[in-house]
Amino acid sequence: MQSAATVGAIDIVAWFVYLFSAVMFVVGLHFMNSPKTARKGNRLSAFGMIVAVIMAFVVLFAKGFVNIIAVVVLVAGILIGAIAGVVSAKKVKMTDMPQLVSVFNTVGGGAAALVALNDVLTKDGTPDLVVLITAGLGILIGSVTFTGSLIAAGKLQGIKWVKKLSLPGKGVWNVLFAVLAIASLVMLCVQPQQRLMWSILTTVFALCYGLVFVIPIGGADMPVVISVLNACTGTAVAMSGLAIDNVALIVAGALVGSAGVTLSILMAQAMNRPLLSVLAGGFGGGSGSAAAGDGPEGTMKETSSDDLAVQLVYADKVIFVPGFGLAQAQAQRELADLGELLKGHGVEVSYAIHPVAGRMPGHMNVLLAEANVPYEELVDLDEINPQFPQANVALVVGANDVTNPAARKPGTPVSGMPILDVDKAQNVVVMKRGRGTGYAGIQNELYFEDNTQMLFGDAKKSLQAVIAAVKELLN
Ligand code: TAP
Repeated sequence: MQSAATVGAIDIVAWFVYLFSAVMFVVGLHFMNSPKTARKGNRLSAFGMIVAVIMAFVVLFAKGFVNIIAVVVLVAGILIGAIAGVVSAKKVKMTDMPQLVSVFNTVGGGAAALVALNDVLTKDGTPDLVVLITAGLGILIGSVTFTGSLIAAGKLQGIKWVKKLSLPGKGVWNVLFAVLAIASLVMLCVQPQQRLMWSILTTVFALCYGLVFVIPIGGADMPVVISVLNACTGTAVAMSGLAIDNVALIVAGALVGSAGVTLSILMAQAMNRPLLSVLAGGFGGGSGSAAAGDGPEGTMKETSSDDLAVQLVYADKVIFVPGFGLAQAQAQRELADLGELLKGHGVEVSYAIHPVAGRMPGHMNVLLAEANVPYEELVDLDEINPQFPQANVALVVGANDVTNPAARKPGTPVSGMPILDVDKAQNVVVMKRGRGTGYAGIQNELYFEDNTQMLFGDAKKSLQAVIAAVKELLN
């Protein structure tokens, strides 16, 4: 152990270094406002985090807290985490990012809960009320995030048994475990002498709440759940930071938490879901909860790339409707090229952006920005919907749920979700590989409408064929 003066000096240095890291997080986040500076923002934030981790090491060593076993555990933990982070960042496809984010939320929430648990259980003497409240909230919220995000990751990854999980009387379990977890947290504050028992009970009930909260939710409600869990991770980290008095954790957690809350509210509004109902498990319906056989009847009419090219070249106004399939096919550049060709021929082209198209917030914006589509051509749902009746062709590229007119009726997993009014266009052509359903697991009524034609095949190959046909027509 070092002298009190040395320890005091280390604490002051650490405080300034953590503050520096926190400033890096804020500035980094600011740079993420625009696709042009986003990479720089990411690097700045990562640099801030590396500095904070190194400082934490220095503090532990300087205060003489670590023995050789602790060093081995710390180094092994950092190596495993760093390798897993680098490999997943390099290997995981853009379309699989939501499940990766959910896994990160799982470990983030779990780590925050463990930090808070450790603080409550190992403090000399009885912790004061502020520590008990903040650490207790860190334990509670972190544990909910741990199990909730684990289930969310399984659902997003499409793991069949996870998607099939169901709960009888779902709302009852939510209320039961929420009440038990909060009551245990209150008891932790009231009876700090019994903190081992109350903190373990808070953890167990919160873990159960995380499970029963996410199990019944699925289909079109997943975007809201993901952003809520993201907000929970940040809040748990901030609470743990308050408990152990670490400014870097407080600021990083507060940034993630407040961004997550804002995103949750926006997502809930975009999906027309009251946020509280989602939290209470009032929505859901799970992917695939409506059998394909319950869907619309009729036949789908097929078209060819040559026919589509003719429709496009003779159109005055064309609206592209990108969705998850565009990302899956990595066909954003081809779509942008087709747009340029048509614009060069005098056709008015715009891109209809649904807030939950794809698998993560802003997915289509990022994808199309990557292909240098001008930002002003990306038109939000409210603004583009009145334009569909004037569109000679609405070209749907790998979008499904966000165009399904079934959302306008009650009783389906997408009911109530605002959709792009593609069916109101004069002609609709849908590019997809086959008759597969969208994320919500139900058939799309749009495909059976009189004004809809299907162009089956991988979106990239279909677009390449259409581009070739358009060029031939224009020459
Ligand atoms: P989806 O409903 O998921 O439909 C995508 C369609 O793309 C599928 O029907 C699929 O049909 C087609 N497809 C897949 N690969 C393709 C390829 N290589 N070429 C051509 N087509 C391909 O997509 P959406 O309309 O964008 O809706 C998003 C859904 O995801 C919503 O239900 C939303 O709630 C949910 N969700 C969104 C988020 C966020 S935050 N955006 C997060 C989680 C979940 P085939 O198999 O027949 O090709």
